[in-house]
Amino acid sequence: MTFPKGFLWGAATAPHQVEGNNTSSDWWLREHGQLPSPHPVESPSGDAADSYHRYPVDMGLLADAGLTSYRFGIEWARIEPEEGFISRAQLDHYRRMIDTALGLGLTPMVTLHHFTNPAWLARDGDWRNPAVIDRFARFVETALPILSDVDLVCTINEPNMVAIMANSNEAFPHVGLPAGDPVVTENLVAGHKRAVEILRGAGKLAGWSVATQAYQPEPGAEQAADDYGYSREDVFMDAACGDDWIGIQAYTRTRIGTDGPITIPDAAERTLTGWEYYPGAIEFGIRRSWQRTGGVPIYVTENGIATADDARRIDYTTGALEGVMSAIADGIDVRGYLHWSALDNYEWGSYKPTFGLIGWDSETFERHPKPSLAWLGEVARSGAL
Ligand code: BGC
Repeated sequence: MTFPKGFLWGAATAPHQVEGNNTSSDWWLREHGQLPSPHPVESPSGDAADSYHRYPVDMGLLADAGLTSYRFGIEWARIEPEEGFISRAQLDHYRRMIDTALGLGLTPMVTLHHFTNPAWLARDGDWRNPAVIDRFARFVETALPILSDVDLVCTINEPNMVAIMANSNEAFPHVGLPAGDPVVTENLVAGHKRAVEILRGAGKLAGWSVATQAYQPEPGAEQAADDYGYSREDVFMDAACGDDWIGIQAYTRTRIGTDGPITIPDAAERTLTGWEYYPGAIEFGIRRSWQRTGGVPIYVTENGIATADDARRIDYTTGALEGVMSAIADGIDVRGYLHWSALDNYEWGSYKPTFGLIGWDSETFERHPKPSLAWLGEVARSGAL
């Protein structure tokens, strides 16, 4: 079986994780002790991969390998570094990125919010303050002109993780995740709906991307798994009903017993993030979303593995793509696969978990494509595994 014609094959990044020097953002302040951080910050993001300057090289590598799409974000904190102050130069910068992608034959998927907020927003209640709904809508309207020939726009990346992180003043539990903060959840859903309205009014295909954790019930724990997943996942899938598409992202699974999440067995293989190696996660997320949303078309907007062993990346991705194929064979409308990540990047506090198809030298920034990039490009060219 081959993947459908026109299926998008790509890789994804987020601005803060690859650009470097995102100094007007809340994460930068957190990394430098100027805002409280819910997470231990082992190292600051600094120059990151300097993709802010080197994006033409990065996109060129993806296109040369055979990929047809690049998902990247535009950074609100750069475009509006102070409330109401819009940087034309930064808008131009992101417009050049879109031009570069289109020129290379890469369909751009543009994310408007990927975890980071402008520092001024964070200081004024971030997503807890309902003012964020108007503020975000204003940002979307500001960005609209540079998106003129971009079809696919992702409003908010992993709103469920944003709500979960807002609810975790302590380190994440050993197993499972905190519940989503209800106020933040409400504001995210309202912000998304406003953004979708604006984007659709301009002819865009709008959606958001949800982090799925494959909450797998042990026998007899079906209800417990549903209850556990509701605030952490389902409420965000429900909010995607009626959207043009939904992004599904998955890395691992969480098994749920009647008393909640179950610890990963010692014998299980773990990745560099400590998560269980589980390529089936994406198929689980796709099937759940299809059922939950009543058939909203799906893009896999992130899927990948933190590993120093690139052969494991190929193995993991093969398993994941087999699952995507099986979902398509069952009639589920999956329209693309965007691997996480194009580059090794700043994994929110550390550079150690390496997710990239492309590595880079931390002194010279010289890019080192890994065999997995050529492999994924070949899958893209042939449309088959
Ligand atoms: C996020 C990325 C992150 C990746 C791996 C997703 O939660 O969207 O920013 O790097 O997963 O943890």
